[in-house]
Amino acid sequence: MPKCLICEKNYQPFVNFGEMPIANAFATKEEMNNEYTFSMKVGYCESCNMVQLVEQPDREQMFHDNYAFFSSTSNYMQNHFKVFAHSVSKLQNLDKKSFVVEIGCNDGIMLQNFVTDKIPCLGIEPSKNVAEVAREKGIEVITEFFDQNLAESIIAKHQKADAILSANVMCHIPYMHSIYDGIKALLADDGVFIFEDPYLGDVIEKTSFDQIYDEHVFLFSAISISHLANMHDLELINVEHQITHGGSMRYTIANKGVKKVSENVINRIKKERKLGLHNSEAYSSFANDVDQIRDDLIKLLITLKNEGKKVVAYGATSKSTTVTNYFGITPSLIECIYDTTPIKQNKYSPGMHIPVLPYEQFHESNPDYVLLFAWNHAVEIMNKEKDFMSNDKHWITYIPKVEIN
Ligand code: SAH
Ligand code: TYD
Repeated sequence: MPKCLICEKNYQPFVNFGEMPIANAFATKEEMNNEYTFSMKVGYCESCNMVQLVEQPDREQMFHDNYAFFSSTSNYMQNHFKVFAHSVSKLQNLDKKSFVVEIGCNDGIMLQNFVTDKIPCLGIEPSKNVAEVAREKGIEVITEFFDQNLAESIIAKHQKADAILSANVMCHIPYMHSIYDGIKALLADDGVFIFEDPYLGDVIEKTSFDQIYDEHVFLFSAISISHLANMHDLELINVEHQITHGGSMRYTIANKGVKKVSENVINRIKKERKLGLHNSEAYSSFANDVDQIRDDLIKLLITLKNEGKKVVAYGATSKSTTVTNYFGITPSLIECIYDTTPIKQNKYSPGMHIPVLPYEQFHESNPDYVLLFAWNHAVEIMNKEKDFMSNDKHWITYIPKVEIN
């Protein structure tokens, strides 16, 4: 039986996706000769309520000099992080004497706002290619993995942080205790640690199983984060639900007893208990619900193929690697995936080897059906494509269930 990464108790997996490749390993045909895979299972620890991947690939397999995810590809997310940064400045009264640290700053989508406002900041970003883009924006970046040791070296060189921020990164890191020890050390007495990640409650309610892939070691809830913070003499003082990434939660953590705990925390924990996130039964039908989506989507794709329809996909997301590999979607069902990210273009999708083509070719391909892998950006994308998709062309979505729009 696997051991919980947080409390070391044994737990049982509740869904098994089988062998999976690295979700962001878009590559050329030659590079795919020896594709790395790992066994992807997810379990729930009854003792500390943490939902987690049973096995994780080594971090260097995922985050390196050629990392394929550039945060700034979505205009919506650029605005999201601008609003996020400004809300932190207001909450902590930040000025030119303050210090902000972001863990996993990627291409600088969040920190660029502090640079504009002349608030001193530092990014931690181990993937060197995306870190370089952040540096070009005038952001100081350390290209290493954050952990307790790195926190100590930041304190030695800089000062304690008034705000430590992180988005879509915490859930990627298995060694949570070293992270929280580092946060505890680096945080000023009245500092705040604010992070957001895809939310367990949304994943369970919507069966958004494609949030599960190699990088997502944990699916957090207010219940599990409150417990984890407590273990490190920290306290969960606020939670704010976000619509990003198909439903995320922003958690604010402070030194214990220093700041007022918002009603939001109490209310959210009540909601989670109502949803049963603290009970293994909540997870018992998840695998069957995923298989229902798989059966419906495969049936639809086979019918469209038999009717001679042209079906392509939109958005070479990490999430799509779980969908294509678990469902067995090969280029015979989906011709190709169109994407705006240069590093993914003219490569093949991990595992199923579906060609990824530049977005510029999407309109001339003249498809009948477009499977929306980037469903979390549905509003932005459907709006952008509304004229093109108006005549006899249809979107296919599959979260929470298979639908043709
Ligand atoms: N914050 C951005 C990027 C999320 S992608 C956004 O929300 O869009 C996750 C990022 O975390 C990657 O750029 C990856 O290189 C980085 N990362 C992974 N492990 C890390 C660690 N231990 N410390 C700092 N960054 C890490
Ligand atoms: P995203 O859903 O943010 O990430 P994840 O990898 O976490 O599942 O990825 C969005 C992908 O979709 C990214 O490769 C860029 C692409 N994309 C487009 O091609 N066009 C668009 O208009 C948008 C918003 C994204």
